[in-house]
Amino acid sequence: MITSREIHLIARPPDDLPVPGEVAMVEVPVPAPEPGQAVVRNMYMAIDPGLLQRMRDLSDLHVPHFQLGGPMWGHAIGEVVESATPELQVGDVVLHHMAWREYAVADVKEFTVLDTTRYPSISHHLSSAIVAYCGVRRIGIEHGDTVVVSSAAGAVGSVVGQLARLRGATRVVGSVGSAEKVRLATEELGFDEAFDYHDGWPEDLGGVDVYYDNVGGWQLDSAFNAMRPHGRILLCGSSEEHRSGRPHGHRTMQMVIGKRLTLIGFTTNDHLDLLPEFEREFPPLVRNGEVVLHETFVDGLDQLIPAIKSLLDGAYLGKVLLRF
Ligand SMILES: NC(=O)c1ccc[n+]([C@@H]2O[C@H](COP(=O)([O-])OP(=O)(O)OC[C@H]3O[C@@H](n4cnc5c(N)ncnc54)[C@H](OP(=O)(O)O)[C@@H]3O)[C@@H](O)[C@H]2O)c1
Repeated sequence: MITSREIHLIARPPDDLPVPGEVAMVEVPVPAPEPGQAVVRNMYMAIDPGLLQRMRDLSDLHVPHFQLGGPMWGHAIGEVVESATPELQVGDVVLHHMAWREYAVADVKEFTVLDTTRYPSISHHLSSAIVAYCGVRRIGIEHGDTVVVSSAAGAVGSVVGQLARLRGATRVVGSVGSAEKVRLATEELGFDEAFDYHDGWPEDLGGVDVYYDNVGGWQLDSAFNAMRPHGRILLCGSSEEHRSGRPHGHRTMQMVIGKRLTLIGFTTNDHLDLLPEFEREFPPLVRNGEVVLHETFVDGLDQLIPAIKSLLDGAYLGKVLLRF
């Protein structure tokens, strides 16, 4: 009998990472698949900054909470090890939502078989590129734009900068949290400039046409200051709130009015009409080296909770993946 370790949410952590008692590592038997089902051994799981927020009791979340008393969910990739459906073969690599566990057993409709030749690495199928792609397409980069991206060494931001450049931006600037991330952004990801936001936004940033916002908070205030009249801001993420859980009150809304700025609240799921275009255009950019998907791997399910903290603390570069 195979067993699977999985992490269950027992109680909602009030204001920081969960402590023992709020989450539990549980070992369960892996059942034989019923007709129409398959057993999948997980290989990778995406570690995202929103995971902690989904554990909390926040009524104003625009994403569903994790339920208490069972394993949490999230994007994962695994390999079919047992199948009771002709639609899945042993050895197929599949994408699904049953993360936080070593094995997933479910109906075939829960799994999407991946074309493993599409990207140089299987793990690239868990990248946040679809978020970056839809955001960049919807904000509409124009030739000559100066684009600033926050969390520019992160999973979304690192791809945004590269796509903005490919779409004709003249100057792409990254806001990041360390000197190592400045180096990654400028030397490997093709950003023209990058700065460490811990020193504040540079006074001489010049006029900004597009701000792709992944963090919210005081950096969004700083962007209002730096924007040119009629500038466009895409509100993609609010990482400043993910750790604290507290919303940040903006003090400079008058500037949004005075400068006639456009603020776009953005959720990828509203833009999935772009999926066929993304699947056609994006993987070749990675295969031929025009876009770099930088990844950091964390090994083993028992490292998952500490890794969420490290991610929010800014310890990692690019997309962070749990490797089972
Ligand atoms: N709208 C959508 O459809 C959508 C979809 C996916 C993700 N998102 C959101 O987009 C944002 C980026 O996602 P991601 O997966 O690429 O995460 P990420 O940027 O790779 O990871 C979070 C990063 O945020 C930075 N950070 C943490 N606290 C911060 C703070 N107080 N101020 C500034 N930066 C801080 C840290 O890097 P530093 O070293 O730079 O501090 C950390 O590495 C997240 O807020 C996420 O929830 C939105």
